[in-house]
Amino acid sequence: MKFIIFNWKSYLNFDESNFLTKFISKTNFKNKYNLIVAPSLLSLGFLQNKYKNVNFAGQNFDLYGKGGFTSFLPIFDLSENNINYALIGHSEVRQYRKENNSIVNRKLKLALDTKITPIVCLGEDLNTYKKKLTNDYLKKQIIETFDKNTQYSEVLIAYEPLWAIGSGMVPTNDEISKIVDFIKFFLKDYSFKKLKILYGGSVNSENLEQLSKIKELDGFLVGSASIKKSFINKFKL
Ligand code: 13P
Repeated sequence: MKFIIFNWKSYLNFDESNFLTKFISKTNFKNKYNLIVAPSLLSLGFLQNKYKNVNFAGQNFDLYGKGGFTSFLPIFDLSENNINYALIGHSEVRQYRKENNSIVNRKLKLALDTKITPIVCLGEDLNTYKKKLTNDYLKKQIIETFDKNTQYSEVLIAYEPLWAIGSGMVPTNDEISKIVDFIKFFLKDYSFKKLKILYGGSVNSENLEQLSKIKELDGFLVGSASIKKSFINKFKL
C-alpha cells in the first residue's frame, strides 16, 4: 500500500487542524493509500484522541526522555499515545534546530526501541544538485544515519531535495526513479524488515498524477498542498 503523509508543519492553528482532520476522518479514501497526518505539536495529542480512525505522525521528537528537560518532546509522548509514526531529520529541523546526521542516527535508534515507525528525511541542497553530487551527498547521509549492524523494522525514507521544498520545482520522474534505485541499492548492505521510499517536495494537485507514474516510489510526503481540501480530495473514493 502506498503512503501519503501530510506534513502540516506550522501552517494551521488548533481550530484549523481540528476542522481539517474532521474532514479527513469523514472521508472515504481509496484503500490503496495509507494516509498519515502530521499536525502541529499542540494539536497532535488532542486529534489522536478525538479521531481514532486517522493515523498520525509526530513532526519531530527529542532525544531526552522523562526528566528535567523543559520544552522538549520525549518520544514516549508519541508511543504511549498511539502515535505510531514520526518524522526524523526533516530539512527544516536540520536547518532551524541544527539537527545533524549524528542526531538523526540516535533518534532512529530511539524510534526503533519505542516501536515508532520512523520517516527519515534525506535530500540534497540546490548547489549539490547543480554540481551533480546528489548521490555522494545521499551516500554520506545514509552512512551517518543508518548502522549496518542494526536490524531495523519498518522504516520509511522520504527523499526530499531541499531545493524542491516549497519552491514549486520538482525533479523529473526519471531523476526521482534513479535516486530511489540508488538509495535502495546502497541500502542493500543494511538490514530492514520493511523499507519504503517516498518522495517529498512541491507535490501538489497538478503534478500528483505525473509523479504517481514513478513505480519505484512507495508514496509521498506533502507539505503545503496537504492543507487544501482540493488536494485531499484527490485520494477520495
Ligand atoms: P512542500 O510540499 O510544501 O514543498 O513541503 C514538502 C515537505 O517539506 C514535506 O515534508
